[in-house]
Amino acid sequence: MIIPAVMSRLNRRIVVLCVSATFFILAFRQFTTRSELPSPTFTSSIRVDHPVKWKDIPPQHPVTSMTPLPTGESPSIPKIQHDFGIETENNRAERLHRQTAVKEAFLHTWKGYKQYAWLQDEVTPVTGGFKNGFGQRAVTMVDALDTLIIMGLKEEFEEAVKGLKKIDFTTAGIPRLNVFETTIRYLGGLLSAHDLSNGKHHTLLDKATELGDMLYAAFDTANRMPITRWDWETAALGGHQAADPQALSAEIGSLTLEFTRLSQLTGDPKYFDAVQRISDVLEKHQNRTKIPGLFPILVSPLREEFDVDETFTMGGMSDSLYEYFPKQYLLLGGLSDQSRKLYETAIEPAKKHLFFRPLIPQDQNILISGNARLSSAGSVKLEPDGQHLACFTGGMVALGARIFNRTGDLDIARKLVDGCIWAYDSMPTGVMPETFKMIPCYGDEDCKWDITKWHAAVKSSYSADYDTLHQDVQDIITADGLQPGYARITDPRYLLRPEAIESIFILYRITGDPYLQDTAWRMFEAIHNATKTDIAYSAIADVTLPQGKETQKLDECESFWTAETLKYFYLIFSEPGLVSLDEYVFNTEAHPLRRPQAG
Ligand SMILES: *[C@@H]1O[C@H](CO)[C@@H](O)[C@H](O)[C@H]1NC(C)=O
Ligand SMILES: *[C@@H]1O[C@H](CO)[C@@H](O)[C@H](O)[C@H]1NC(C)=O
Ligand SMILES: *[C@@H]1O[C@H](CO)[C@@H](O)[C@H](O)[C@H]1NC(C)=O
Repeated sequence: MIIPAVMSRLNRRIVVLCVSATFFILAFRQFTTRSELPSPTFTSSIRVDHPVKWKDIPPQHPVTSMTPLPTGESPSIPKIQHDFGIETENNRAERLHRQTAVKEAFLHTWKGYKQYAWLQDEVTPVTGGFKNGFGQRAVTMVDALDTLIIMGLKEEFEEAVKGLKKIDFTTAGIPRLNVFETTIRYLGGLLSAHDLSNGKHHTLLDKATELGDMLYAAFDTANRMPITRWDWETAALGGHQAADPQALSAEIGSLTLEFTRLSQLTGDPKYFDAVQRISDVLEKHQNRTKIPGLFPILVSPLREEFDVDETFTMGGMSDSLYEYFPKQYLLLGGLSDQSRKLYETAIEPAKKHLFFRPLIPQDQNILISGNARLSSAGSVKLEPDGQHLACFTGGMVALGARIFNRTGDLDIARKLVDGCIWAYDSMPTGVMPETFKMIPCYGDEDCKWDITKWHAAVKSSYSADYDTLHQDVQDIITADGLQPGYARITDPRYLLRPEAIESIFILYRITGDPYLQDTAWRMFEAIHNATKTDIAYSAIADVTLPQGKETQKLDECESFWTAETLKYFYLIFSEPGLVSLDEYVFNTEAHPLRRPQAG
């Protein structure tokens, strides 16, 4: 069993990975000891003087040549958004009613954060305390700066910008910084707030640059691959640095948008150069992995090795690696054919090996993005697992269909989105579980609902736990709250995640289909009902609970609730011109960055 040491700290998309010769489990347990991480007193144990002058620390591995941002004539990129017509008075009134409810949910959370956790990382929404797993740098506040702008909360925004000035982005209150999480939440948040406020507050770009210069030091390794769980103090003291022998592919592959935007805004090419080196390595290895075109979960940045791990997914640990290919194409105004090729080379094997149609009642034709691994015989085996984290794929495929004129893919995107909608609607709480197992159909003829097949699949997926020969399958179904179609619910929690509404929002802006708005509203009400606390909103333990029962709250409210989930809910009920997909590209933390050619 390999449990890489680098994976000891788990955040949003990071889960413990256990690989052995015979089985592989994704244990979707979030890092639960976060509250035990250093509290405000930590700063006293920092070994370096702060602020750290990162720019003045001489690099140990200076770059010898710098790749500049691509220039030239941008190719025309097809329009992404639907041509929305004039809305009726009735529709407008209903839309605004819904939007107001979302804004109230945001304000309720914000009030709780301000009262109990201001300038701390997260509020604990049941006990009214706080957590500092991100180094006590107000992650909830920084991550929500752009949401405040989008929702028109001017006073709250000004107050947050004042708070921002007090945060030192040259150090962190934790010894090992998660470079990926810091990039997508903080750097993405700052850059987006800068873009959306039209550069009105110089603090935003100043702080982004301060943080960018700190993160840039994580790339100071012999092959310039970044250290993903980074001992920043050693770096500040000029200690030895080497790239990780093992890292999660999403963590090295999802830095491009933020670093590119920082170069575009500062005019300093070094940030873009840093991430372009990663894209080049990915391109070089894409066709030499165990499933050519796809990247495995684990890769070796140190050895630049991509052909060892045999597990593939668009869910947690790889997800945003893929998402960033089409998005980087947009951010570079279509001037990077490399990003287009990376995406198009990945999407075909994904359709073949990862996306599957599950057996469900009513025979609805939906798709789920599952996992694949190589069998010992060398063939690719589908693992028919669903994950909330993988729900971003519908939006990504829809975006790729539009910008690369892959017209046939829009239907795939729709089915992927329908898969996540189904998973919400199938639960008594109306909220999708974190992870589960389904029954794959092998061909459309094979997909007629069949209760015997369902029961057999339930038995087989529990066979390791019980003597299922003697266990009545109905007892298992009742005990675990399995609805028809679920072979097992491996993790029944809902952690306030955004991926489903994210894809529904993108597909809505592309197609204009009002059914998607109605669906979003149903989901919002369900989430609101199941997760609201007196202080904010909380992750919950079990979405399979029968209707009318009080859900168990887990006392966690990660910053993506206000940065992503509520932002996408708000935007699907806004006028379509607010943060148009033809002007902005969203990073994986829902931070819109301005596409340059849009002016
Ligand atoms: C990888 O293979 C695809 C075809 O499957 C091809 O289009 C692409 O150019 C290849 N990439 C590289 C870097 O050779
Ligand atoms: C997009 O693809 C369709 C065929 O699928 C083709 O008819 C159309 O000309 C293409 N549009 C562009 C802009 O390439
Ligand atoms: C949420 O709760 C309200 C009030 O109790 C109820 O009317 C509504 O049907 C619920 N909605 C969902 C989707 O659970």
